[in-house]
Amino acid sequence: MENQLNKKEGISGPVFYTCADAAMQFYNKMSTRRSIRDFSDQPVDIDLVKAAIAAAGTSPSGANKQPWFFSIITDQTIKDCIRKAAENVENAFYATSNLKKWIYPVESTCIATGILLTSLHLSGLNTLTHTPRPIGFLNSILNLDKTFKPLMLVVVGHAAENAWLPPIQKKHSTEIMKIY
Ligand SMILES: Cc1cc2nc3c(=O)[nH]c(=O)nc-3n(C[C@H](O)[C@H](O)[C@H](O)COP(=O)(O)O)c2cc1C
Repeated sequence: MENQLNKKEGISGPVFYTCADAAMQFYNKMSTRRSIRDFSDQPVDIDLVKAAIAAAGTSPSGANKQPWFFSIITDQTIKDCIRKAAENVENAFYATSNLKKWIYPVESTCIATGILLTSLHLSGLNTLTHTPRPIGFLNSILNLDKTFKPLMLVVVGHAAENAWLPPIQKKHSTEIMKIY
């Protein structure tokens, strides 16, 4: 199926990507992402970071509260300060904590869900993030072990032609970031 949103003007005329192509391209791209713990001195183009934060700011949020704020740290003194503080708490943490308890299931699943929503959007599909509470009823309906803690429902489909969109505003990207 052709996705008009993904139409691109090429040198010899328009090129059309199918929704399945878009989903596979996104998957291929995302499967190359790794956490890096050694960085070079090459400067980062701050416009790329601003664009990424602007994209993050398009995320769905409960009651459209957009409860995020991103601080971009370029100042070396502040970076040194943060590094020192982070190393201090990490040293104390590893000395005293039961590591098995600290696997960040909610944070990790939220990041995965963000990537899931992005892929579905690039595929031309529509989604609703739905969070009925308490959501434990899913365990019995889906016969999931009690160790699974459902977080949210992601409803996936094609929007009806007359689908109603509430007239909400999203914060401007400059409202959700500050450069230090
Ligand atoms: C919520 C969360 C917290 C993390 N905390 C740390 C951390 O404190 N230190 C670290 O070196 N990596 C941290 N990571 C990175 C994970 O170790 C890493 O994502 C995981 O091992 C998978 O590797 P990958 O990112 O290269 O795919 C964290 C990742 C997530 C999602």
